[in-house]
Amino acid sequence: MILVIGGSPRQLGRTQAVSSHVASTLSQLGAKVEYVNLASMTLPIYDGSLEQNELLEVIRWRALAGQAEGFFIVTPDYHNGMSGALKNALDYLGGSHFRHKPSAIAALAGGGKGGINALNNLRLVLRGVYSLVLPDQVVVDKHQINDQLQITDSAISQRVNSLAAELLTMSDLLAANRPHT
Ligand SMILES: Cc1cc2nc3c(=O)[nH]c(=O)nc-3n(C[C@H](O)[C@H](O)[C@H](O)COP(=O)(O)O)c2cc1C
Repeated sequence: MILVIGGSPRQLGRTQAVSSHVASTLSQLGAKVEYVNLASMTLPIYDGSLEQNELLEVIRWRALAGQAEGFFIVTPDYHNGMSGALKNALDYLGGSHFRHKPSAIAALAGGGKGGINALNNLRLVLRGVYSLVLPDQVVVDKHQINDQLQITDSAISQRVNSLAAELLTMSDLLAANRPHT
């Protein structure tokens, strides 16, 4: 199963246009997909308490990540980094959820040549949880998304589709060859 994560805290954030596009592309490629839109989740700010471990939302989130064989994570660029919502969601997870699993990353940016810093920030954090982050990545500018939350630029959607296909290839390879450690 591939877990697709829409990392915007905004219900109608443009990030969702890309994450939902990725989820349907992966399904069309034959993958089993779970889609989590963080704007629809109620994860509290991580505080490390035992009480949080018993919250249904936290249990469900950790279980989904644990079952995933790969991740496609889309973040908005907020002040040169990933969204706080996404960082908080990742703080609930760790190496046990990500080790030996590939991640593909994409960002939504304002269009002033942003997005790269958010991707580098996300890449660094994913390295911290031991995910194998694919070298390729995509920045989508907000003017490439319409009001119906669809990608309007066919070259960009093609790049997103290629990255999704590469993720599926890598997750299939890794899942079929479970490492010894
Ligand atoms: C708090 C905030 C900070 C932002 N900072 C940046 C930035 O540093 N660089 C950039 O290219 N765009 C920036 N943007 C623009 C967003 O990346 C853009 O609007 C994107 O569509 C946001 O995704 P969302 O619609 O899912 O929230 C910022 C937007 C917000 C709300």
